[in-house]
Amino acid sequence: MKPKILIARAIFPEIVERLSDYFEVQANPGDESWSPARLQEHLRGKQGLFCTAGEAIGADLIRACPELRVIANMAVGFNNIDLDAATRAGILVTNTPELLNETTADFAWALLMAAARRVGESERWLRDGQWQRWRYDAFLGADLHGATLGILGMGRIGQAIARRSRGFDMQVLYHNRTPLPAELEAHANHARYVARDDLLARADHLVLVLPYSAATHHAIGAAELALMKPTATLVNIARGGIVDDAALIAALRERRIAAAGLDVFENEPAFHPDFLALDNAVLTPHIGSASAPTRHAMAACAADNLIAAFSGKAPPNLLNPQASRRA
Ligand code: GLV
Repeated sequence: MKPKILIARAIFPEIVERLSDYFEVQANPGDESWSPARLQEHLRGKQGLFCTAGEAIGADLIRACPELRVIANMAVGFNNIDLDAATRAGILVTNTPELLNETTADFAWALLMAAARRVGESERWLRDGQWQRWRYDAFLGADLHGATLGILGMGRIGQAIARRSRGFDMQVLYHNRTPLPAELEAHANHARYVARDDLLARADHLVLVLPYSAATHHAIGAAELALMKPTATLVNIARGGIVDDAALIAALRERRIAAAGLDVFENEPAFHPDFLALDNAVLTPHIGSASAPTRHAMAACAADNLIAAFSGKAPPNLLNPQASRRA
């Protein structure tokens, strides 16, 4: 008998088809947003779950699904899953690392350039029919070339962002839990490790690439924003909750920093409505990894993890090898 799995969100049809070769699949083709209670109902009797970063898989849900053996998250971040609770329950948890590094780094640059050079704001103005004549002081922004790029969180994506700064002749400063080995720093456009407050004070453009956890909740709040330059740009491609959105809104409104490019928000897809009134914020709906090849690769990777786990092999991207029970 094939194991039963739930695919919690709409996904590429070829992935559903492939998984159907191995599993009895319940899909969510209408892409309904299930409440935790509905998700729990659908998960009843399933041994596997294919989910995305949008599904909260907490300890209560895990307790309520004793037959669940594998969770394959189609995301590199896994803060949506209570990994300790899953491990205690013997549930294998996998993610989709590496293959989105370059695409997400590209997108960090898209947001940085759009925010620093006021692309969203000027495009809205043009579409609004307001362009009557050239003006010497219209939409003056900040330069990227020759500027200091700050990166908070220097994992693989941070390093990919740093590498791209070579073409802009930028100096790269970073802060991380631990400094990188010298050869990785050299490869990341000779990035230099500095103390966190130093990074905040010296960066002309600061990109956040931290994983979200209790320790990084509101890592950027009013006190941190106060250390930044009034001409600085802040980019968040990591997770909502790393930034205190209310504090950021106040800083942008009062021009205590110049601009922000934000792909993630606290409580997304709901987000603080005051962002909408800010011309100096470029807002995108969590699309950092959303190139067609990368999203296809992420879906295939999550499916591979699920299939491997149920074939008795170690899934390639197992996050909790210590989970005692094996699928
Ligand atoms: C996207 O946010 C991911 O974690 O893959």
